Amino acid sequence: MDVTLSVIKADIGGWVGHSVTHPDTLRRAGELMAEAKLQGHVIDYRVMNCGDDLQLIITHSHGEESKVVHGLAWDVFLECTEVARSLKLHGAGQDLLSDSFAGNVRGMGPGVAEMTFEERQAETIVVFMADKTASGAWNLPLYRMFADPFNTAGLVIAPNLHCGFSFEVHDVYEGKRIVFSAPEDLYDMLVYLGSPGRFAVKSVWHRDSRQVAASASTQRLSLIAGRYVGKDDPVMAVRCQGTFPAVGEVLEPFAYVNIVAGWMRGSHHGPLMPVGFDDARCTRFDGPPRVIGAGFQLAEGILIGPCDMLGDVAFDTARRKALEIADTLRSMGPFEPHRLSLDAMEYTTMPEVSERLASRFEPINAG
Ligand code: F6R
Ligand code: MG
Ligand code: MG
Repeated sequence: MDVTLSVIKADIGGWVGHSVTHPDTLRRAGELMAEAKLQGHVIDYRVMNCGDDLQLIITHSHGEESKVVHGLAWDVFLECTEVARSLKLHGAGQDLLSDSFAGNVRGMGPGVAEMTFEERQAETIVVFMADKTASGAWNLPLYRMFADPFNTAGLVIAPNLHCGFSFEVHDVYEGKRIVFSAPEDLYDMLVYLGSPGRFAVKSVWHRDSRQVAASASTQRLSLIAGRYVGKDDPVMAVRCQGTFPAVGEVLEPFAYVNIVAGWMRGSHHGPLMPVGFDDARCTRFDGPPRVIGAGFQLAEGILIGPCDMLGDVAFDTARRKALEIADTLRSMGPFEPHRLSLDAMEYTTMPEVSERLASRFEPINAG
């Protein structure tokens, strides 16, 4: 039987400021999801948070983009927004960009990563959730997991991984997509993956079996809203073991520090720090950006977990390095490359400033 895993997330209000999700909103989400499970709408669920984002990890049999599941998630976010409003949390309902639900949360603010597959004898999955960063932050880790033999030994030495993986990449500005096959398209693919502000990996597939291996959220809030409204704070789900990279190969990219966009006001680069669940709390300069990894085994769609994968001491060195990089970048204040480039600022505050100052610019050779 096919099972669908849907990871749907939204920032519906922060406590304190944009630091974390309040326990009362998590509790309310849990109550509503428990009710939905009792009524048989979903097989299982977990309510989690990374920083100020609330994630619903749901297993069900309705397939992707299902009205039932997306509608449920939308209702949960609306109810949790009410809780956030009653506590006067910061930015209550900030990611819900529309007043009316039209059957699917895509394009309405929440981030979605979904995959449908036949559950294997042992179905191992890691769900990654990030805060204070943009869609595209997964490009580098996904490249390492599924295309880099220095990261994933299995690409070289496991016969069932040797065929490689294909990558579905979205141009989030133009609304176009392209599929690359690794290893033969690697150099072409990296031209695009290396620009995560515009190109983001949506999904990864095993080339022989055509089984889905990974799925990521790629919504760009600022592009949907046409102005800066908050961070994408993406999620992704990765299947592991067997014909997919081992859990350790999937976690390995996070042992190295990836510098991402999205820190303070969505306008700064910062290190994506791997942390345990209890440290998914954004503080310094509203960050630094962080990522958690929730490991699960599936048993007939029941989520056995989460296991806190990045909380392990094996990632302490990455954390220390991330904090050192944070110091270096912070010392640059409003200067690039800590602050995003002018191009990226075009989608935030830059147009307002340039319009206001337009008349003060004059040709250099005026006199
Ligand atoms: C939000 C974030 C924060 C905010 C900043 C200003 O995810 O990263 O850095 O951008 O705290 O927030 P507002 O404009 O809500 O006061
Ligand atoms: Mg927030
Ligand atoms: Mg957030």
